[in-house]
Amino acid sequence: VTVPASAPASGRLEVPLGSYRITIGAGVVGNLGALVRERAPAHRYALITDDVVAPLWLERALASFAERPTVHVVPAGEQHKSRETWAALTDELLAAGHGRDSAVVALGGGVVGDLAGFVAATFMRGIPFVQVPTTLLAMIDASIGGKTGVDTPAGKNLVGAFHQPAAVLVDPGMLATLPDDQLRAGLAEALKHGVVIDRDYFEWIAARAPGMLAAPTEHATEWVELVHRSARIKAGVVERDERESGIRKILNFGHTLGHAVELLSGLTLLHGYAVAIGMVLEAEAGERLGVTAAGTRARIEEALDRVGLPTRVPSSQPPADVLAATMLDKKARAGAVEYALPAAIGAMAGTEHGYGTRVPDALVRSVLDELRSAG
Ligand SMILES: NC(=O)c1ccc[n+]([C@@H]2O[C@H](COP(=O)([O-])OP(=O)(O)OC[C@H]3O[C@@H](n4cnc5c(N)ncnc54)[C@H](O)[C@@H]3O)[C@@H](O)[C@H]2O)c1
Ligand SMILES: [Zn+2]
Repeated sequence: VTVPASAPASGRLEVPLGSYRITIGAGVVGNLGALVRERAPAHRYALITDDVVAPLWLERALASFAERPTVHVVPAGEQHKSRETWAALTDELLAAGHGRDSAVVALGGGVVGDLAGFVAATFMRGIPFVQVPTTLLAMIDASIGGKTGVDTPAGKNLVGAFHQPAAVLVDPGMLATLPDDQLRAGLAEALKHGVVIDRDYFEWIAARAPGMLAAPTEHATEWVELVHRSARIKAGVVERDERESGIRKILNFGHTLGHAVELLSGLTLLHGYAVAIGMVLEAEAGERLGVTAAGTRARIEEALDRVGLPTRVPSSQPPADVLAATMLDKKARAGAVEYALPAAIGAMAGTEHGYGTRVPDALVRSVLDELRSAG
């Protein structure tokens, strides 16, 4: 998947995606008002953010708006990506007098993006919104593709809508305040992008990430490049498959077993950390099935080690429980769990009509038995 990139004089990079563009550049946040007005013209704006991002970035973001948007701050954290927060936000927007001619600006990580996107999707039957992602995961994954929604007590993301943003505006400079573990978690998804589509990119991350993590602000150009390369990959995939029928499934690599491990951790493990473990497990399963080239698991593991991501199932999680948790995953169809497996680093097994490979339970079980952390 290649999407032509252009680097205009402003130093900004653009990734076209359907009817909108993803704009990436240092300094985007200082220009937000003008960019939002240009990409999503509206009578008024409602800016939604959370209480961790607000003290760090809100004033900087607001400074460039000619007319101050109404500001709506939600408590940070996945537990607030709920119908209750959605209801409170829609009430706030109504009380502030917003209408069909308003637009929403989502300033935050994936939680704020999903939530604010769902508010925009449903408010007055849908108003435009702009994504301004502030975590690495949101910059390279959650803000791209138009999935919005909230969690329910029965599970994550069970109520939602497809609602494409009018624009995605990314300033990788905002990563400067992001905690290290959140950066690493985002890098797991970036490495996944390399595994599923682009071997060069995978090797580039493995080589550069340790330096980029050690001194993020000294590697601003590399962070822009990383966000750009990942955004191109995700955009290229979702463009070909907006509703997840075919090729979008390749982005689930590492996620079937990753979700199981995440679930069993009581969500104490960051999603990206669980995906790191899931990629190792699934690559090993692929090698044992003969679908994945020998040595793929070891190479993925080496790269994850360099980034400081885990590669083994926590010893507190019995293999039988992890296996059982995969059955709860919505990707388990008709009793058999399907996996999106790599053929090698940079290429997935399967075709556009079927990227899912059924893996026998006994094989998964033996992989889980072997790849556990000691103690
Ligand atoms: N819509 C999609 O396609 C899609 C894809 C992947 C994930 N998601 C969703 O994204 C969510 C996870 O997103 P996330 O990992 O960004 O988590 P998050 O939004 O919870 O952000 C993580 C933490 O970082 C803080 N934060 C955000 N930006 C910061 C910054 N620049 N500096 C300092 N702190 C900052 C947040 O306040 C939060 O406490 C999940 O709900 C997941 O379901 C959606
Ligand atoms: Zn993920």
